[in-house]
Amino acid sequence: MKITKTKRLSLKFPNSRFYGIVIKNLENKHSKDLEKEKKKVEEYIVKNFDKFNEQIEERSMFFKNYNKSFPLEYQLKTIAKGKEIPKHSAIKDLFFMTELKNCTIMSAQDIDKLDDKLVFDLSIGGEDFIYMDGKSMKIKPDDILLKQKEEVLISHLYGAGKSTLIDKNSKDVLFLVWSDISISDNDIDKIVSDIKKYTKIISGEKTTIELFEVEETNNFIVTPWDVKGDIDYDKLVRQFGTKKLDNKILKEFKSVVKSDHPYLKRKIFYSHMYFDEILKDYKKGDKFYLYTGRAPSGPVHMGHLFVWMFTKWLQDKFDVPLLFQIPDEEKFLAKDNLTLAETKKWAYENILDIIALGFDPKKTHIFLNTEYAGHMYSHACKIAKKITFSTIKSTFGFGNDKNIGIIFYTAMQSVPAVLPSVMEKKKTRVLIPCAIDQDVHFRLTRDVAESLGYYKPATILCRFLPGLQGMGAQGKMSSSAESTAIFTDDSPKTVRKKIMKHAFSGGGDTLEEHRKFGGNPDIDVSYQWLTFFEEDDKKLEKIYNDYKSGKLLSGELKQILIDKLNNFLEEHRKKKEIARKNIEKFMLRD
Ligand code: TRP
Repeated sequence: MKITKTKRLSLKFPNSRFYGIVIKNLENKHSKDLEKEKKKVEEYIVKNFDKFNEQIEERSMFFKNYNKSFPLEYQLKTIAKGKEIPKHSAIKDLFFMTELKNCTIMSAQDIDKLDDKLVFDLSIGGEDFIYMDGKSMKIKPDDILLKQKEEVLISHLYGAGKSTLIDKNSKDVLFLVWSDISISDNDIDKIVSDIKKYTKIISGEKTTIELFEVEETNNFIVTPWDVKGDIDYDKLVRQFGTKKLDNKILKEFKSVVKSDHPYLKRKIFYSHMYFDEILKDYKKGDKFYLYTGRAPSGPVHMGHLFVWMFTKWLQDKFDVPLLFQIPDEEKFLAKDNLTLAETKKWAYENILDIIALGFDPKKTHIFLNTEYAGHMYSHACKIAKKITFSTIKSTFGFGNDKNIGIIFYTAMQSVPAVLPSVMEKKKTRVLIPCAIDQDVHFRLTRDVAESLGYYKPATILCRFLPGLQGMGAQGKMSSSAESTAIFTDDSPKTVRKKIMKHAFSGGGDTLEEHRKFGGNPDIDVSYQWLTFFEEDDKKLEKIYNDYKSGKLLSGELKQILIDKLNNFLEEHRKKKEIARKNIEKFMLRD
């Protein structure tokens, strides 16, 4: 039985603790002795009710935020007034007695009905949940969930769902202790010793009881088509076998272009392959080409834009041509819900966002794969012939169910990495600024490039802009999730609403707490976004310090980001309108 909790949950509820108690080979016999124990629990609650009241108060915070009361409050109060603990199966009674006596929320499930992987997670809001009585409902944001794959088994706010509950035939049972605030070892010991005592009454010698604490794990996935979990960017560099942009290469870079960029200082662009070769040859007077791309599937959001802003800066500094690929077939092939006509429509819409960033039309060449295929296809074939089906399967984790279009696609994404040599009629280096998930494609290109007479393509790689709901909720921003991304066409009101409502806050829970202990900018999404969009280091540092000290409030921090984005987007939209007239100046056509 493997149960873990997500980093996201720990960030929101740093003191929360979850424990598992596994009871195996349970016999589940009712007896008079259990009824006697039940009476003792009732008396204990009546006698100590002042203490219980204090605990109820303390443990109600989470529920009060949603105008709900602590789930055990009602039962405890009626027992204090003389009502009896009801009688169900022995195991249910045992469970209920333990819960009440310890004033601690627990869940009980039949292990034989569970998969062996469960996760405690912080809800995003809107997850489907089937309540105990079979009614389906939507989960609220910032609830604590126990999930099995994507299914919500239990919600802290609403309690147990329909499936996997215990009944009188349950042999192996999992109890979980749910504490959203800290709980002492002593409290846990008491719970376990109560369970042991009652279990002895209802079961025999063969029964075993085992306690464990639920720990955090960090499972993340980064592929070109799927990004999930709380990404460990250092680990990713090791996994992908790319290099860090270390001080030596950054110094070299600075001395070549005679300036610096905040994204380098702030390690937003933090990794590379063969960037040192680009610099070395550039110093000798050899120009290279820049190459980047965008697979259209919807409107452009801020997570795309910053990569292209950096690309534009590179173009200005190095004064080199840029190939901008629009693989309008990619998302058509990779997803089920887009037609080629739709991706093409988005392609031309997205091109406006690209042009609006101010790329030089004389040096910037944009093309759609479906339209420029005549120039690309022969190169794609030469590349494709050198890549086997089994390499594609293992590189991208594809199963046999993938369509052959997406299997071939990587060859199309490789072509612009070799095209400059064809265009210039001499071996020409290519530098690709992109998010780190894309390096996988270019690793394949590198494997075949030299044997076809080209240089291995170089990359300069960045992190993702976190989704509004924070690291882990969504590894990168997704165009399909309204509440995680800000699109370039979002109105000032929408921007404001999305940030105020969804941006994950590292602030204190209450105003008093925030003033006293300060906020945590390192996990605060609004602050993280400012590291992408506030270029002034001094301003950013002041925001960091003020937030950390508690001087700057969460709402104020959000407002700074809102203003920054809205000012930028207003200008951006004007430039997009102008771009409409200039599209053809940029397009490469067959
Ligand atoms: N695959 C990229 C995407 O999903 C699009 C793309 C094509 C690209 N060529 C590229 C991205 C080169 C970066 C660099 O959006």
